[in-house]
Amino acid sequence: MANTASLKIDDKEFPLSVMIGTEGEKAIDVRKLRADSGYLCYDQGYGNTGSCESALTYLDGDAGILRFRGYPIEQLALHSNFIETAYLVIYGELPNAEKRKEFGLNLRQHAAIETQMQKIFEGYPKDAPPMAMLASIVASLAAHYPHLATNDFSKDLASFDLATAMAMSKIRTIGAMLYRYMNGKPYIAPKQDLPFCENFLHMMFSEAHQDYVSVPEVARALNLLLLLHADHEQNCSTATVRMVGSSSANLFTSISAGIGALSGPLHGGANVAVMQMLQNIHDDGDDGSRFIAAAKSGSKSNRLMGFGHAVYRNFDPRAKIIGQACEDLLKKLGVNDPLLDIAKRLNETALKDEYFISRKLYPNVDFYSGIIMRALGIPVSMFTVIFAIGRTPGWIANWREVAANPKGRIYRPRQIYVGPTVRDFVPMEKRT
Ligand code: CMC
Repeated sequence: MANTASLKIDDKEFPLSVMIGTEGEKAIDVRKLRADSGYLCYDQGYGNTGSCESALTYLDGDAGILRFRGYPIEQLALHSNFIETAYLVIYGELPNAEKRKEFGLNLRQHAAIETQMQKIFEGYPKDAPPMAMLASIVASLAAHYPHLATNDFSKDLASFDLATAMAMSKIRTIGAMLYRYMNGKPYIAPKQDLPFCENFLHMMFSEAHQDYVSVPEVARALNLLLLLHADHEQNCSTATVRMVGSSSANLFTSISAGIGALSGPLHGGANVAVMQMLQNIHDDGDDGSRFIAAAKSGSKSNRLMGFGHAVYRNFDPRAKIIGQACEDLLKKLGVNDPLLDIAKRLNETALKDEYFISRKLYPNVDFYSGIIMRALGIPVSMFTVIFAIGRTPGWIANWREVAANPKGRIYRPRQIYVGPTVRDFVPMEKRT
């Protein structure tokens, strides 16, 4: 494997060093290129730019590989649960029994939202977009817990543990409270004795006079869904968290920015768009062929939602796991969902279609996650909120890598300016 590279511009040659990751990923280090040559690298959307070194998640989009801290997603999905995987993602190792207990306890102790913070909800219209509310309420954690709104946890790991527990546990509680608020229902307080997912379902679905008791299959499905979303390398929201964190902004503020990035329909909002698409097909009595034909027009607004991925070019390993889990869950719960049948038909048709084959477009994780959430009784408006709860450990771990890097510098990409060249100011009376 090459150790050095060089770039020739006209007759001048610029030596560049080569970086190789632990999985053999190769990169050319261009950090000094601009200073040496006057050229910068153009890579709109950063599709071929390594913006950091990271020890968290390994993803090979061509081979359909996803690993957290070295552990294959398939093994974690089979043997672990969301909280254990969150610990792994954040702290780098699977917890032993003692660490696992301590982590769980910390999460349980910081699940509640104080009365003063609850008032923030009341300031929003009941039909406000939940992700907009989530982003701003999470940002307000920095105002409510200013002692944790620091990026200097290097000497004070206990504070990082506390901020981590708060972020994970409270974002989950805020999510459930949003649902209650939007539906005009009183909040249900978290219970100390319930595991993370069961507690979320309790806060969503219990009533003052009757506790919701989740069947094991439901809690397991929610665990799996959150686990599969725990981290995903330098996706749009995670890169946002890192970028904001690189200015030494605190954890809560950085996560809030990540929630904003996640809300877009091309990222976390895709699971909502998938359900809307399946529902439209169902309502139209179409077999999906019209949608497939429209998707092939090349227009961005007609894309087959839940298909394609910015990095997976073979298959999305999460989609394989979740597709199977979706079928199993519906069978166990005895749910017959016509949208699942439509999804399966679309999947089969698209995978035989030259347009999708030649562009390597396969179902992604969002293609089936909406159907699972629907079976769990979670409304479409909450889908991206659930994604945010699942992605929180990845955001925390990425933020920490940035905050803990003594050599880290503020993220500051460059641009190619294509606006007007210099011109003189025109006074108002002379403007046409
Ligand atoms: N339906 C129809 N055509 C598509 C689709 C689609 N879903 N996705 C990509 N294409 C076309 C695209 O127009 C392009 O065509 P052409 O070569 O003729 O110009 C070609 O396929 C290659 O596109 P690409 O470079 O693979 O796409 P991208 O990297 O720019 O975008 C994407 C990736 C995920 C934004 C896109 O596939 C998409 O919009 N999918 C639907 C939305 C979706 O499901 N998003 C969830 C992503 S998974 C959740 C997460 O990890 O964030």
